[in-house]
Amino acid sequence: ATPSSVPVKDFPSITPPYPRLLKTLDEVRSVLPSDRKLTLAEKILYSHLRNPEESLGGGGQIRGERYLKLRPDRVAMQDASAQMALLQFMTCRLPDTAVPASIHCDHLIQAQTGAASDLPRSIEQNKEVFDFLESAAKKYGIEFWKPGSGIIHQIVLENYAAPGLLMLGTDSHTPNAGGLGMLAIGVGGADAVDALTDTPWELKAPLITGIKLTGNLQGWATPKDLILHLAGKLTVRGGTGRILEYFGPGVAAQSCTGLATIANMGAEVGATTSTFPYSDNMRQYLHATYRGPVADAADAAAKQGFLSADEGAEYDEVIEVNLSELEPTLNGPFTPDLATPLSKFSEFIKENNYPVTLSAAAIGSCTNSSYEDMSRVASIAEQAKEAGLKSKVPFLVTPGSEMIRATIERDGLQGRLEDVGATVLANACGPCIGQWKRDDHQGEDNAILTSFNRNFKARNDGNLKTLNFLASPELVTAFAFAGDLNFNPTTDSIDTPNGPFKFKAPSGDRLPPVGYTAGDLSFAPAPSPKPIPETEIAISPSSTRLEILEPFDSVFAAGPAELPELTCLLRVRGKCTTDHISAAGPWLKYKGHLSNISENTLMTAVNDEGGQINVARDAQGEDTIPHIMQRYKARNEPWMLVVDDNYGEGSAREHAALQPRFYGCGLIVARSFARIHETNLKKQGVLPLWFADKADYSKISAGDKVQTEGLKELLAGTSPDGQIRLKVTKPSGEVLTIETTNTMSADQLNWLRAGSALNFIGEQARA
Ligand code: F3S
Repeated sequence: ATPSSVPVKDFPSITPPYPRLLKTLDEVRSVLPSDRKLTLAEKILYSHLRNPEESLGGGGQIRGERYLKLRPDRVAMQDASAQMALLQFMTCRLPDTAVPASIHCDHLIQAQTGAASDLPRSIEQNKEVFDFLESAAKKYGIEFWKPGSGIIHQIVLENYAAPGLLMLGTDSHTPNAGGLGMLAIGVGGADAVDALTDTPWELKAPLITGIKLTGNLQGWATPKDLILHLAGKLTVRGGTGRILEYFGPGVAAQSCTGLATIANMGAEVGATTSTFPYSDNMRQYLHATYRGPVADAADAAAKQGFLSADEGAEYDEVIEVNLSELEPTLNGPFTPDLATPLSKFSEFIKENNYPVTLSAAAIGSCTNSSYEDMSRVASIAEQAKEAGLKSKVPFLVTPGSEMIRATIERDGLQGRLEDVGATVLANACGPCIGQWKRDDHQGEDNAILTSFNRNFKARNDGNLKTLNFLASPELVTAFAFAGDLNFNPTTDSIDTPNGPFKFKAPSGDRLPPVGYTAGDLSFAPAPSPKPIPETEIAISPSSTRLEILEPFDSVFAAGPAELPELTCLLRVRGKCTTDHISAAGPWLKYKGHLSNISENTLMTAVNDEGGQINVARDAQGEDTIPHIMQRYKARNEPWMLVVDDNYGEGSAREHAALQPRFYGCGLIVARSFARIHETNLKKQGVLPLWFADKADYSKISAGDKVQTEGLKELLAGTSPDGQIRLKVTKPSGEVLTIETTNTMSADQLNWLRAGSALNFIGEQARA
């Protein structure tokens, strides 16, 4: 039964479309060799293919080679990244989203003194962003989770995650939802817009690393310790282009929320995502979160073999971990893959001359704020209280959602933490993402312990000298009472007036014995809201943070043609990542304002002609690269770039393609492109070409006039060879012809013709 205090779930919109997925899987099996066994990750991915024959047919290697055209089931967006995703979505003027979607206000809430004052202050400071997101949610029928409702990944786990589902989220820890046996993948806004507009979402079929778990966790060891240990083994790059698929007898014993913690931090090894076979614990979690019908549907799908790997399925690599031997582990500082077992931690601190005194302890976040986590840390707090101890350092608790907060409050767990000195923060990201107004230790070397997932320099409090060690919430809590990094709670005692005190291993409940309570329902959206098309989008024309995105013009409105003559603005030398093209840090606040954020375009790129950073020239003289781009835009003079190898590596950040396009870039010619960025350029209507001969890179210089030859035929479908040549006219009058290659598919030529992929989608929808 669903208690009246918990929102009734709209089951049709959250139950995976199992009949359709199973049917597609049958088609997949008919395309593949009859003896081909599938891993769980393959079953989920391939059952979401739009056309199995097109993506998998013809034999040959699939994993690591083929591009899959997929149809995700759902999209989740957080408040920072949702801004540009929605602004882009709006340009295609569709009435609603093609798949259910949700927006979560969590990243913009700053922690200072505690939830009661932090939440209203942050709402006030970010009002224009929240108002915009809410208005867009209303207009397009997106579920809007207000500030205070909780952290995106916890809310997704509690409400939307389901076995076998394929979800995209505009946040790198989206894989957290893998704890419920699905594939949840973190993407940039442009990919989210693909799913929102029913455009095929492309993914290179990942390799699959099988992680075989045997044994069971003992004493202080937790699921967090497993992923901390694995991060040490795999390093921050070990999962790149891979899905981590867990299997073996050790999986079924783990709680669903423990699996979510493991999946969450798969992002730390660069994995595309992580997943687990459907288990009884997942079923129980679905029931506990009032999704009995989803559990029933998953049970039926599991009986048909959908929610686990085929017997004998092969992995690209297998790593085995015996959970019985796993030790509590602490990772850091400054990188999540520097793993040290607890028994060696004190020695490690000494060897590296790190500060021994702990300066703060923080638990919770999207990674570790389950009922189980809170119940186990409360057992430690209770022991400490009985021994007369209080936390020696600021001890911050971030509940992952309002449901968790209300449930731990009702069950007395929050009280037990507050009794020993904890401050409960708002249900939001807070100190995990630098939203921590920390008044002490600024500029000083100091060590903190957190149960979060990342520990890059300055991530938490903006102080480059803060060392953040990642650990389980249980370990972080025990250390808070010792205040000293030499402490080992499994062996050491703490002195008290009544003599030495030693902790017993933590214990707790996996799920609330009397069920979850929803807490303040005013934070939550009505399930499956209908779009209200007449809603005005709330963006003030004087805003510095938000700006309506105008659709880009097409130069092909009159039909197939060559690009207009372009001037080469710059030849970029060497490594140029999406960070070089569109820097993060202080610029993040302009994510929803293309004119303002564009002022960072290529500001750390090296000009190959002279070797200087952020310097370019035009007829008016020398200036910064963005200023020169602005001058071109003001003159309405189209321009192009020459770039080096692997241009645009790093991330799916769509701003790196939007910004040059906004300033008037029509063409980028590279020695090579990073694939995701190349696709993003195509989506924004910029033509990416590759030098047929990489040595030609130096033949085009700033100020040269460049004309395409062969594009008109390519757009008209009459090109004899599919290639485009560049006619380059030097200021001296000398003319060169440069051969290029390209990867433009028929669909992508449509994007170019329409001015952008979104223009094309809009045209199609209105046709
Ligand atoms: Fe937020 Fe940190 Fe998780 S920023 S989404 S709590 S990783």
